[in-house]
Amino acid sequence: MLHKNIIYKSYNIQIYKPMIDPSTIERIIDTAEIADVIQDFITLKKRGVNHIGLCPFHNEKTPSFTVSPAKGIYKCFGCGKGGNVVNFVMEHENISWPEALKFLARKYGIEIAEREVTDEEKEKQGERESMLLLTGFARKFYTDTLVNNEEGLAVGLTYLKERGYRKNLIDKFELGYSPSTWDSLTQHAVKNGYKPDVLEKTGLTIRKGEKLFDRFNGRIIFPIHSLSGKVLAFGARTLKQDKNTAKYLNSPESEIYHKSRVLYGLYFAKRAIVQSDKCYLVEGYTDVLSLHQAGIENVVASSGTALTNDQIRLIKRFTNNITVFYDSDQAGINASMRGIDLILAEGMNVKILTLPEGEDPDSFSKKGNLESFRDYISNNELDFVLFKTRLLSEESKSDPVIKSRMISDVVGSIAKIPDRITRMVYIKECSVILQIEEKILYTETDEIRKKIAEKNLKSEYTQRVSLSENSPKLSVANSAAKTNSRSERENHEREIIRLLLNHGEKYLYNQDDDKSITVTGFIINELERDELDLSNPVYNSIINECKKLIASNIIPTEKNFSNHADIEISHTAADLLSSSYDISKIWKRKENYIETEEDKLIQLVPSTILAYKSFLVREELKDTEKKLKVAGNDESLLLQQRYMMLKNTNIQLAKQLGNRTVF
Ligand code: CTP
Ligand code: MN
Repeated sequence: MLHKNIIYKSYNIQIYKPMIDPSTIERIIDTAEIADVIQDFITLKKRGVNHIGLCPFHNEKTPSFTVSPAKGIYKCFGCGKGGNVVNFVMEHENISWPEALKFLARKYGIEIAEREVTDEEKEKQGERESMLLLTGFARKFYTDTLVNNEEGLAVGLTYLKERGYRKNLIDKFELGYSPSTWDSLTQHAVKNGYKPDVLEKTGLTIRKGEKLFDRFNGRIIFPIHSLSGKVLAFGARTLKQDKNTAKYLNSPESEIYHKSRVLYGLYFAKRAIVQSDKCYLVEGYTDVLSLHQAGIENVVASSGTALTNDQIRLIKRFTNNITVFYDSDQAGINASMRGIDLILAEGMNVKILTLPEGEDPDSFSKKGNLESFRDYISNNELDFVLFKTRLLSEESKSDPVIKSRMISDVVGSIAKIPDRITRMVYIKECSVILQIEEKILYTETDEIRKKIAEKNLKSEYTQRVSLSENSPKLSVANSAAKTNSRSERENHEREIIRLLLNHGEKYLYNQDDDKSITVTGFIINELERDELDLSNPVYNSIINECKKLIASNIIPTEKNFSNHADIEISHTAADLLSSSYDISKIWKRKENYIETEEDKLIQLVPSTILAYKSFLVREELKDTEKKLKVAGNDESLLLQQRYMMLKNTNIQLAKQLGNRTVF
């Protein structure tokens, strides 16, 4: 029955990637005392080992909100809300997981940037630092070339001046020029003690055999700054008209430059973004520059690539409001459509500004003055519902096919919005504009949201079930079970997860015995053996999380789940950890001592699993029986065989179960 050596396949499991390093997160959670934190918001009274109070999440007169300092969790028995200290702050303050962590870090004076680094990390750190030193050095070389070098002045600076960029703007953005030689920068850097391998790593230098060449020559240089103003990379625009020369060359991805996590201009825009509580998003370097010069400083560029989630989150640190500028060409429309959904999914407000035919932000900002530009923006920016409907409305008036496509497009975007109330607002608006009943739109959005949720939670691998070599594969186990049996199935699953959460790291056998296995290991092993998935997606995520932790040699404990970033997981954990509190403490009174659940694990865990499997087999039997009744002749024989095999498996399981019954 027990497999000692379990091989855990590495499934493609989505886990939360924190921006704050794990050890700091752990320290914050360890330091933050849950009752202490919650007491900042509501009054708590001590009741035994717990604290109780009036629930802040629903209206109540008698307290059913319970805080357990020992377990570090809260739970409201009135409205069902529960979780760990971070969840509480998230829920109460309506902020994200990292924001809640930062909130707690501030309260307890924990420095977030501080982290303990491994030797390998130190090396990486050293590498990053030398790369940053070099990019800083190169930046200076390029700016010096622009204003001191003959070619730089004649070609580079002249070009920038012709485009109308003033000296103070050029200085501020540290624009530069790379001479049209083979290796000026590389030579200069090596002479100043920079190592060739660092030059290569930053992408400033390209090696061909023994020879080193500059990546950029004869180009205008746009340094790309980090949030704190360090130069991470460069964009470089050619001045040639030649069609075969790429207009822009950019630094390659490197240890210091991850294109998808950087926004051009953010360093110079962040103050203005906070002040105006809004961020304008444009496509290119020159758009950012021209808007700045026109007096609009809350602007960043995605640098020609599709917007990424990381970039949106960068903006979200400073504001919740984004206005996407786009030129009215078709490619632009499609690109910004995808971007809109991503922004909505981050819970941000998005507006779209269409510029007049043939204009981009760069050209348009040079047409009028600041006031006229501001007027144009406020008169023309549209929320996404209006934008999308306008886009298609001309054709769609008479064409029902186009109209329905447009509706599902708009509804698809609305469904991405995490906040229910915001969704409601947009549904109302959409209903008026498109003249469709709100009810229909609600149903549609709910459908889409359900699908998204299912897709996110469904594990990657195909689901097959077998209970032993000669038992048939189960289909009920994986089909959507009938409603009445689903609840029974979930009860089985709930009990399995409850045991896993409460006792997962405990050993089923003597620790020194070579047959020993943890409760978690046993459960996972048993489920994998028969390729069983749990039907409840949250339970399934918990199992997957366990596999993931075990794969990296971590024995999962209750803390991994009660402190989990996924609120559904931490809620479930809080629920199952608290509901079991009484049962797990006092299992059964025997003559002189209290027998705990822990003492019984060696029987309890296997029999819980067996009961689950036996239930699935019985369901499959029922199903086969039904099919037999309506089966044709040729089908019937196969079904009969299957029926017999299942019957046999069922008997085997019942026997094992009988041997193990604890009650
Ligand atoms: N881009 C790029 N590589 C290219 C073309 C474009 O990285 N070969 C990126 C640049 O960040 C550029 C942006 O896409 O700024 C927008 O491209 P485009 O509109 O062609 O350039 P502009 O910034 O408008 O430059 P200019 O006004 O000088 O033509
Ligand atoms: Mn342009």
